[in-house]
Amino acid sequence: MSLTERIAAIEEALERATAGTAEDVERFRVAMLGRNGAVTELFEAFRTVSAEEKRALGLRMNLLKQSAQGRVDALRDAVQASGSETSGPLIDLSAPARIDPFGGHHPIPIVMDRIVGIFSRIGFNVSHGPEVEDDHHNFGALNFPPDHPARDMQDTFFVDGGDRALRTHTSSVQVRVMENSKPPIRTISPGRVYRNEAISARAHCMFHQVEGLYVDKEVSFADLKGTLDHFTKSLFGPEVTIRMRPSYFPFTEPSAEVDMSCSICGGQGCNICKHSGWVEIMGCGMVDPAVLAICGIDPELYSGFAFGMGVERIAQLLYRVPDLRLYWENDVRFLDQFTGAAVQR
Ligand code: DAH
Repeated sequence: MSLTERIAAIEEALERATAGTAEDVERFRVAMLGRNGAVTELFEAFRTVSAEEKRALGLRMNLLKQSAQGRVDALRDAVQASGSETSGPLIDLSAPARIDPFGGHHPIPIVMDRIVGIFSRIGFNVSHGPEVEDDHHNFGALNFPPDHPARDMQDTFFVDGGDRALRTHTSSVQVRVMENSKPPIRTISPGRVYRNEAISARAHCMFHQVEGLYVDKEVSFADLKGTLDHFTKSLFGPEVTIRMRPSYFPFTEPSAEVDMSCSICGGQGCNICKHSGWVEIMGCGMVDPAVLAICGIDPELYSGFAFGMGVERIAQLLYRVPDLRLYWENDVRFLDQFTGAAVQR
């Protein structure tokens, strides 16, 4: 075979080459470029030809070597890309199936949605307000006197040089709803609130509240108690009971704090309820007539009740969370425990 014929034969072999595995690629490389490979031997033969032939074929020879190397590389890439670089079994059919872990809901939205769900089923709609509030909605319209300590720098995060603040409670949303709608009003307002507090196991500078408001003709304190009793039994179970203790909020009169029989120990006394058998779950009261009037609702015609609860606190009682900071740390050992907990509406 002349040199030219050998070159043509190799070119054709390069063209036809295929490989299914890494071993195939290596075999092909050795057959072409190995010590006794076709290309190597061709170069041996080339050394002995005449100067004239060298000139005529030199370039083609070099190109041939390059394309042999290129072909080896391309086959290797193709084998790797198809994932079949080994000749052994490609998949282990006996291996257990890989279960892709499902994400889960965070306990705070789970509980917030459950609270909202309970109230929506008895006719409350959902309302939202801004997290950056003005003094009027967060304090003034809620009957906070100008020198009330809650307005203090200690408690409130002010923005815009003090004109506005991060809302300290979702009660600001009841003002917005009353200003913008006419009774009957039944609304529930979930959202984030902020207070300038040192972070500890029992306090955080940012947390969640759900606010409730009912304004109509002849709304009574008995309606308030019945509604909250229905709510706590729906969330914690029919065995829990509530009691109300007189309290003070500037925007309600009378005001009360609501305790629930401890759902953890059944009222027997434990660490969570500080051995009293009762845990505080929210504040409430009859909307102060002055607040109704400021918001444009005639207090002679209408009355209302309002309540506000901390979602972290409720979640703590439902799930026995020992430290509020766990809600924010994104530790999967904590979060994993809520995987699969359905959001109920
Ligand atoms: N806004 C109160 C707080 O953040 C909670 C509250 C108490 C809301 C009584 C109310 C209420 O609507 O009537 O502590």
